[in-house]
Amino acid sequence: MVSPADVLTERLQRALVAAFGGEYAGTDPVLRPSQFADFQANVALALAKRLGSNPRAVATTLVEHLDVADVCVAPEVSGPGFVNLTLRGDWLATQATGQAADPRLGVPVQQPQLVPIDYSAPNVAKEMHVGHLRTTVVGDALARTLEHLGHRVVRQNHIGDWGTPFGMLIEHLLDVGEDSEAAKLLASDPNAFYQAARAEFDADTDGFADRARRRVVALQAGDPDTLRLWQELIDLSTAYFNSIYDLLDVTLTDADLAGESTYNAELAQICDELEAAGLATVSDGALCVFLEEFTGREGKPVPLIVRKSDGGYGYGTTDLATIRHRVRDLHADRVLYVVGAPQHLHLQMVFAAARKAGWLPDDVEVVHVQIGNVLGADGKILKTRSGAPLRLRALLEEAVERAAAVLEEARPELSPEERGRIARQVGIGAVKYADLSVAHDSEYTFDLDRMVSLTGNTGPYLQYAAARIRSILRRAEEGGVSPVNGPIVQTEDAERDLMLALLGFGDVVAGVGAALEPHRLCGYLFDLAQRFTTFYDQCPVLKAPEPAVRDARLRLCGLTLRVLEQGLGLLGIAAPERM
Ligand code: ARG
Repeated sequence: MVSPADVLTERLQRALVAAFGGEYAGTDPVLRPSQFADFQANVALALAKRLGSNPRAVATTLVEHLDVADVCVAPEVSGPGFVNLTLRGDWLATQATGQAADPRLGVPVQQPQLVPIDYSAPNVAKEMHVGHLRTTVVGDALARTLEHLGHRVVRQNHIGDWGTPFGMLIEHLLDVGEDSEAAKLLASDPNAFYQAARAEFDADTDGFADRARRRVVALQAGDPDTLRLWQELIDLSTAYFNSIYDLLDVTLTDADLAGESTYNAELAQICDELEAAGLATVSDGALCVFLEEFTGREGKPVPLIVRKSDGGYGYGTTDLATIRHRVRDLHADRVLYVVGAPQHLHLQMVFAAARKAGWLPDDVEVVHVQIGNVLGADGKILKTRSGAPLRLRALLEEAVERAAAVLEEARPELSPEERGRIARQVGIGAVKYADLSVAHDSEYTFDLDRMVSLTGNTGPYLQYAAARIRSILRRAEEGGVSPVNGPIVQTEDAERDLMLALLGFGDVVAGVGAALEPHRLCGYLFDLAQRFTTFYDQCPVLKAPEPAVRDARLRLCGLTLRVLEQGLGLLGIAAPERM
């Protein structure tokens, strides 16, 4: 199945060659959606100068050579030289019939690339915050979408599992007892554990601080008993992360863990290689990479510190190792870092240093998918009202409760169990959709009431649209009507508007994969759901004037449902059976 835009592009390109000669082969026809037609081609404006003619004349000649009678009603030249193209209803219906017969619904299978995606990356013994929630949700949607487009995704959960706080955390674990309730807090309320360890460190009774410092040394020296205790902390934290991933229906598993500690053995070599290549120099005792293109205040170059003056390695060194590993060992074609926007400079410096060091060849694309901050109603980074760090689990549970309240009002007739199940899908879907529907690099305000609303550009609105179609199809089946295959036909304008949107699905999914912008798919699905509403208002389905029209409309309903479900699925959002 080929999208309308692709078909028109191909026809326009043939016409350009026929009208102006072979040297115009492959010219971009500058096709855009239009408010006056389905599409407009603006190529005449771009070519007029080169052809030594005026745009309107170029457009007219182009139209004379344009062979689209089977696809469009007569093309029109308008304005300064736009070519307006309106698709024929019968052609749209035939295409929609083809889309319904296509298990991929028109989504292309692309030339496979290997794509490691770094996302989620919470820190051990710490609560995940809303920033981690957003990189988790956006990264997971990108992983699902790229996989669906045929790529091999390697999930890399770069958890923060190394560093000096582990001395204090291990000593605290020993003090409370490995099997104690206090230790188990790590898996349910990690901040409580962290705060308790911190308090012990600050109080420093019985030489705690000293023990903690010695523990760091033992950890770095690879002392087996210390490593075992460290692993215990990781396991408890991982159980906490997994409980959040489960609740969120995120695809990450333990097999995707590739935390900071994974790279420990490589850091010395990274520094040696940089030094040997003349890329790193010692400055104030620290080994630094200076990159001319990164300057700070007063135009002074900012260094990327790869080895601190105390001999320790930094976050940047580890990230150099991540790139080297992903390119050299995983054979990446494209590497994504779905990481908070405030880390942009850090990652740009890492990427630049890796290119210089030869660890990142020119033909491997590396992208920082920047994640914007999530703000509270006060416009500041989201915290609880008391200013304490927010407990993510509590937040997600609150979303589910609010969804339950909305459902209780909207659907009192559902059983409490069923409502509970749906509330979970709706509450979680609402939070995920809020993260996804805004451009990933912009900030947005976290507002649970808006997120769970059944109206507006929300997850629940789309879930509701899908559930409504299911109910139409269910009623048809109960009435003994189940038109599986067969043609979709077009009689009303609302049908053609819906078909035109449906046929754009493949292009949108491919666009999300190319631009790494899930919000495009959200916008598309929202528009699709609105067009469906208009269609359903204007075109009776079960009470259609004749059986052939009714059956065609039911098929159009079925196709819309599949596109909605598939689209929500790529975003990682469930479509409840009923709502
Ligand atoms: N753990 C880090 C944080 O919480 C994010 C790590 C992102 N990934 C990376 N390769 N730097 O901010």
